[in-house]
Amino acid sequence: MTTPNVPTYGSYLQLGRVLDAQRPPTYGRTPGDTRDLLHHDEMTFIVVHQVFELWFKLMLHELGRARDLLGRAPSGGVRSETVAERDVPDVVATVGRVNEILRVAVDHFRVIETMHPLSFLAFRDAITPASGFQSVQFREMEILAGLPEAHRERLGGGSYALHLNPDERARIERRLGEMTLKDALLDWLGRTPIDETFPDFAEAFRDAFDGYVAEQEAFHGSNPVLTEAERAAARTRFDAQRKAIRDYLFEGSPAELKARRAFMFITTYRDEPLLRWPSTLLDGLVEFEQAFRMFRFRHARMVERMIGARTGTGGSPGLSYLEQTTAYRIFGNLLEARNFLIARRLLPLPTKTQMLRFNFGN
Ligand code: HEM
Repeated sequence: MTTPNVPTYGSYLQLGRVLDAQRPPTYGRTPGDTRDLLHHDEMTFIVVHQVFELWFKLMLHELGRARDLLGRAPSGGVRSETVAERDVPDVVATVGRVNEILRVAVDHFRVIETMHPLSFLAFRDAITPASGFQSVQFREMEILAGLPEAHRERLGGGSYALHLNPDERARIERRLGEMTLKDALLDWLGRTPIDETFPDFAEAFRDAFDGYVAEQEAFHGSNPVLTEAERAAARTRFDAQRKAIRDYLFEGSPAELKARRAFMFITTYRDEPLLRWPSTLLDGLVEFEQAFRMFRFRHARMVERMIGARTGTGGSPGLSYLEQTTAYRIFGNLLEARNFLIARRLLPLPTKTQMLRFNFGN
């Protein structure tokens, strides 16, 4: 009897290939040769890395879709003028999935931490100079999200790309030529029709913010517990806040100002029905920035526990390098809008609410 050619669990998921990939290559003369594990825990090390790479693959898939929807990438060759309103919840769902993956994946570092550092030392030399530093998918995620290349720590003055092979470098080059999620976001924010709704929003918001800072200053001023030095330090901080709102809303290129003002506007008036989905999307992107940074921070803590401050297998200073990367920010100062949120009772009211069918103040 012949077996009908239908999917089975193992064939559909190609488990033969996936589950045959846990024996390390020998790097000897015969291509394809593999060796036994050097320590029982080497299996944990390999599987945890492979699981991370699978999550990276899914996140790239999802971030690409979020970028395409938000950036109105040609679908069937036609680029539409605006993001269809019904697409915004899809972008929210996609970013939400990425955030959930990051949250779950970061917990996987707990699994690798069940390996004692002495067990790692049993095979660490055999894997040198391989390192997560060479994870192409991780670099692709950073690039697709929009991490500015200029903000990277340069090890010994060189680029991470020097640690990759020509095929991997070509993949990075292709990614660098694509629109990023951040570009798509700025493009989308820039099209928010603030002027039709609230022509002097930036000026009105700055004045309302000044009123809020003045209130806060008065509260501090009346606190009998503070010393004169503490009061003086607080005054300096309040002055810095007044300057910061001006920088955020009025200093920068026209495109940056449009995006920042839109970010402020959407976040500030998030209770209005028409802004609910856009503000949920911005919240999702704030969470994404946070979750990505948590990945870096959690990885650094695991590394500290596993190898202390010694040089990494990839040749970097190790922990001190990883600590520096925890400062990376994909969306730069765009998310600083969070610095300027003020109590609802102080918000200025838009002048032309009917334009966007808002229902302000009710
Ligand atoms: C025993 C466990 C691990 C140790 C000791 C370790 C150590 C390190 C060190 C020292 C670096 C800096 C580059 C270098 O000099 O090698 C690095 C980078 C990196 N590792 Fe790990 N790692 C471990 C596990 C993991 C796991 C499970 C992942 C998940 C994929 C991972 C992903 C990365 C990534 C993406 C980088 C590049 C970070 C960047 O350049 O921003 N590592 N790792």
